[in-house]
Amino acid sequence: MKIKILAALLGSAALSPAVAQAAELNLICSADVVICEKLVGAFEAGHSDINVNMVRLSSGETYAKLRAEARNPQTDLWWGGTGDPHLQAAADELTAEYKSPSLPQLQDWAVKQAEVSGYRTVGVYTGALGWGYNTDIFAKKGLKEPACWADLLDPGLKGEIQIADPNSSGTAYTALATLVQIMGEDKAFDYLKALNKNVSQYTKSGSAPVKAAARGETGLGIVFMHDAVSQTVEGFPIKTIAPCEGTGFEVGSMSLVEGAQNPDEAKAFYEWVLTPEAQNLMPEAGSFQIPSNKAATTAKEVPDLSKIKLIDYDFAKFGSADERKRLLTRWDSEIGGRAGQ
Ligand code: G6P
Repeated sequence: MKIKILAALLGSAALSPAVAQAAELNLICSADVVICEKLVGAFEAGHSDINVNMVRLSSGETYAKLRAEARNPQTDLWWGGTGDPHLQAAADELTAEYKSPSLPQLQDWAVKQAEVSGYRTVGVYTGALGWGYNTDIFAKKGLKEPACWADLLDPGLKGEIQIADPNSSGTAYTALATLVQIMGEDKAFDYLKALNKNVSQYTKSGSAPVKAAARGETGLGIVFMHDAVSQTVEGFPIKTIAPCEGTGFEVGSMSLVEGAQNPDEAKAFYEWVLTPEAQNLMPEAGSFQIPSNKAATTAKEVPDLSKIKLIDYDFAKFGSADERKRLLTRWDSEIGGRAGQ
């Protein structure tokens, strides 16, 4: 009897709008926090029944978190961040297979990312790797503009370069994989050891180095070119460079988590964030990647990839679990924790 009364009470409470609980969506965002917050705000404005809990984590950190919580996923959706860790998560089946009805509206590179992963991830934006340097610091120190990867080894740049740690940062892993593809693995590690002499700090997040350069804390940050452009647009004395030998690029991606507790809410965000309306919010937040929806607008500040010497980045290989793990282990043993030496 008591149980019956309780059930009746609960039933009427569940129907009362005053106590109706908003549905939840647990989102990890691996792009810049400003665009993360803008997207969440715009999504919630149009979906008042869904409350988004968002946390910003770097791409490699997110992969590690999804792995750690695989038996009991706390995350529903992972938006943004470089494609390689998304591909690794797909290979580990940490993310769910989902063929979005929006795929035909997306650029070929975004669809290819879905195909390579067995439809466990999809491309949301792209952008090329390069660096941004502080023109005031370079002028003051009489340093010449570094146009090529080779120029970054100039002893005059000692202590003036920052790049992220490729374990936590997808940006820095893209740099590592890019150099391996341009130079061959052993030469790339020789290069990284030489570059290390000029590096003052390996940061956790990929764009932190150019933010430090903008504030005058370092001369140069190796980052995605669009992250350097953001600082110039903010008014800082940052010049963006595309390396003369050629460079790699990311396919920023999005993945639904396998076994997510809120799959419907995750799909609602997934589909919304692929629309041109959502992707057009990116430049407003100072994010100058190329959007993946063919109907989205590419802002005039976005670096023109057709004018950059891009390598034919092998996403299947460098996003594979074995290759990423192997390269990171080698980086840890030969480079990690020795900045400046
Ligand atoms: C920045 C860039 C993104 C990139 C992300 C990767 O936010 O604007 O295009 O995907 O960095 O972050 P991470 O910290 O993993 O290097």
